[in-house]
Amino acid sequence: MVVKIPFCKPVFNKEMEEAAVNALRNERFVLGESVQKFEEEFAKYCNTDYAVSTSSGTNALHLALLASGIKKDQQVLTTPTSFIATANCILHAGATPIFCDIDDTYNLDPNKIIDRLTPKTKGIMPVHLYGYPCDMDGILDAANKFDLFVIEDACQSHGALYKGKKVGSLGDIGCFSFYSTKNMTVCGDGGMIVTNNESIAKEIEKLRNCGRSTWNEMDVVGYTARLNTANAAIGIIQLKNLDEWNEKRRKNADIYINKLQNIGDIILPPKEVDVKSVYHLFVIKARHRDELKSWLESNGISCGIYYPIPIHLQLIYKKLYGYRGGEYPISEKHSEEVLSLPMFPDLTKEEIEYVCEKIEEFYDERNVKG
Ligand SMILES: Cc1ncc(COP(=O)(O)O)c(C=O)c1O
Repeated sequence: MVVKIPFCKPVFNKEMEEAAVNALRNERFVLGESVQKFEEEFAKYCNTDYAVSTSSGTNALHLALLASGIKKDQQVLTTPTSFIATANCILHAGATPIFCDIDDTYNLDPNKIIDRLTPKTKGIMPVHLYGYPCDMDGILDAANKFDLFVIEDACQSHGALYKGKKVGSLGDIGCFSFYSTKNMTVCGDGGMIVTNNESIAKEIEKLRNCGRSTWNEMDVVGYTARLNTANAAIGIIQLKNLDEWNEKRRKNADIYINKLQNIGDIILPPKEVDVKSVYHLFVIKARHRDELKSWLESNGISCGIYYPIPIHLQLIYKKLYGYRGGEYPISEKHSEEVLSLPMFPDLTKEEIEYVCEKIEEFYDERNVKG
């Protein structure tokens, strides 16, 4: 396949290069001043009191769970429609992930929480998938009622708003990933937790740095999960650009929506009700999804499927918990229909129009053939 339109395009420019080199030359390689500056600016951006960086989004989620006091044999509710790291972190923390099916925003359905609760349930880990915020009022209501902590997996939704508030700032802890394909990256692995709870922030600072309370004193079993300074220096610049990049993504989404709205064989992303999505991915549901994907790829358009297998049907989860399919029907159907089209800030109108023309052509031909 000759790729005419890539799926995503991470940005690494001269300013970022200079910031990284400057940090490497002048600061400690790990947890240098740029790390602290990045954390301060990220907390300000999310409107939270604290931000603590980590070496990945996975580590952010894992340490957030540990700092929430989760224990072996306790349970945390989450969605089966996410990247596997969401549920894996619950296992890493020694607890059990209990899945809760999704609603028509493709996020954990708050109305299903009550049916999934047991005396062992201690927390909820909703995921703002594809850049679209969860129904946080519903989730927080359930959490308050049943005394559960809420850790938002905001790894795909930097800058998205729920009722005017930044995602990540609504629950007890918010976790972000800066993996290379995200709306903002550190040009390598990296993550961040945000919170308004000082003791949680301090606990995560210790946990990410070998359990240190001072340089030579360790009072918890810690991890090596720190952010490298050069990556933080890049993150500072990426963060400055985030709002502009997100606006460009939103404009691109509008073009897609306008062009695709009359094609009856596809379902467009959910309408924005009380939320501002940052379109980490532009996801449609499509009839004959796999054939459409192949057709687009044969025309030089890269696409993705997020995710072709819901977490509970991944081999390891089948082995651990005996899932067979049918347990979470909405997530299972979702995984058979979703298709992500190219989405990045500098995608051009012409490129989007080309993708839409090819989708139209595909269904015109198929529907004529019957
Ligand atoms: C929803 C979600 N959760 C968790 C993660 C894990 O983040 P990382 O890859 O930085 O460990 C990712 C990203 O890959 C993600 O998309």
